[in-house]
Amino acid sequence: MSTANGGHHGLPRLLAGLKPGGRPMSLAAHHRIHGPVPSIAPHQLIEEVERSGLRGRGGADFPTARKLQTVADRKRVGAVVVNGSETEPASAKDRLLLARLPHLVLDGALLAARAVGSSEVIVKVGQNATDAVRAVDDAIMERESERFRMSVLTGPDGYVTGEESAVVHYLNDSTPKPTFIPPRPFERGYRGRPTLIQNPETLAQLALVARFGSRWYRELGTVADPGSALVTITGAVRAPGVYELAFGTPMADLLDAAGGRTEPLQALLVGGYFGTWVDASAAVALRLAREDLRSVGCSLGSGVLIALGESACGLHESARVISYLAEQSAGQCGPCVYGLRSIADSVGALAGGVAGPRERERVLRWAGEIRGRGACHHPDGAVRFVESTLRVFASDIETHRRGRCTARPAGLPLGGSAVEPPGSRVAGPLAGARRGLVR
Ligand SMILES: Cc1cc2nc3c(=O)[nH]c(=O)nc-3n(C[C@H](O)[C@H](O)[C@H](O)COP(=O)(O)O)c2cc1C
Ligand code: SF4
Repeated sequence: MSTANGGHHGLPRLLAGLKPGGRPMSLAAHHRIHGPVPSIAPHQLIEEVERSGLRGRGGADFPTARKLQTVADRKRVGAVVVNGSETEPASAKDRLLLARLPHLVLDGALLAARAVGSSEVIVKVGQNATDAVRAVDDAIMERESERFRMSVLTGPDGYVTGEESAVVHYLNDSTPKPTFIPPRPFERGYRGRPTLIQNPETLAQLALVARFGSRWYRELGTVADPGSALVTITGAVRAPGVYELAFGTPMADLLDAAGGRTEPLQALLVGGYFGTWVDASAAVALRLAREDLRSVGCSLGSGVLIALGESACGLHESARVISYLAEQSAGQCGPCVYGLRSIADSVGALAGGVAGPRERERVLRWAGEIRGRGACHHPDGAVRFVESTLRVFASDIETHRRGRCTARPAGLPLGGSAVEPPGSRVAGPLAGARRGLVR
């Protein structure tokens, strides 16, 4: 069923029309599903985005309208950069959008470019996402008549290469490392000009807000968290994949959407590796909503949820992740380079059962000391993960010290995607979550 202005009620929204088979949607099919891009004045678009309550989906949760306005207020705006780096190892949503629904993302990027006074769109993608590169390239060719300069560019992998100043640094001189701020990209970014950087999902959502309006957008979700979100669910679930769900959805329904648990759960990691472990009994009582997540000290981040089954060892899995995060440091700030390495070694010792009695307290003290002391938020995200590990798996430390851990490895992904990306399972409606599943 459609609304007066053409938007479909319910879910799926972003993923509408996505079919099995892994082929990118053509421009003609895209227009059949969503209709043409409306001509909307820049200030009207920004107001509509403001009314929709849309926030960035790259992890920082920043209000999109505020960012658009900040860039629009500046002179000689440079490019709009689509940050399709997707460096979170378990995430698959951005690649899904770029590889299968490139026109929705390009619509959003072009609308955003008009709104901020830019004439160039650059889509930056990780070098292994070859399907996304091909799909975006083909989509750009299909839009030959467009007045904007559009290009797609690949960059090296690595957790911090997706951070926005690292993206700009890479575009400017091929160095994929964060820079010290200020200036921020909106002040001095690509080629020294004010630059708008947005996540692909943010732009895809913006393309729908421009078409169907903020009232339509707010038909789903809660007052504080309107609309839908793409969530990558993996771990101990039967059907790991990317799901489009309404904000406000109970976590238990979310797990059901992913086919249900493969075994009883001990914890849920909310928000990927900059996220927070939550004890399973507390996690299933939450909704996919900022206030609920905040009440247990977490946020949705880049939309990754990992279910940890009872047969796995949270301490051991987390020690691997912390070591990975320490290796991902861009090597520029002492507290990040040395602090994260020391923390990783200590958590490794805790998991190996060879740590002294005061090691946990030592790690917590170090974590507090390095927070906020990097040029980018890498150490902050990493210590959030560390602190939740030591909280939620505290009792495992003693079990390990006594050499009594008999868990099986769960193999949390470190680099590469946990979920088969495009063409993986994609669910739409929450009510009857298995409906709308594309295999
Ligand atoms: C270490 C680190 C890695 C990041 N990686 C990504 C990424 O892969 N993709 C992304 O969109 N944002 C990433 N971000 C967030 C970006 O810096 C930026 O906030 C985001 O691209 C802005 O888009 P949004 O407002 O649409 O969310 C990362 C941030 C940090 C600190
Ligand atoms: S905080 Fe770490 S990852 Fe960020 S710039 Fe400094 S060394 Fe690099």
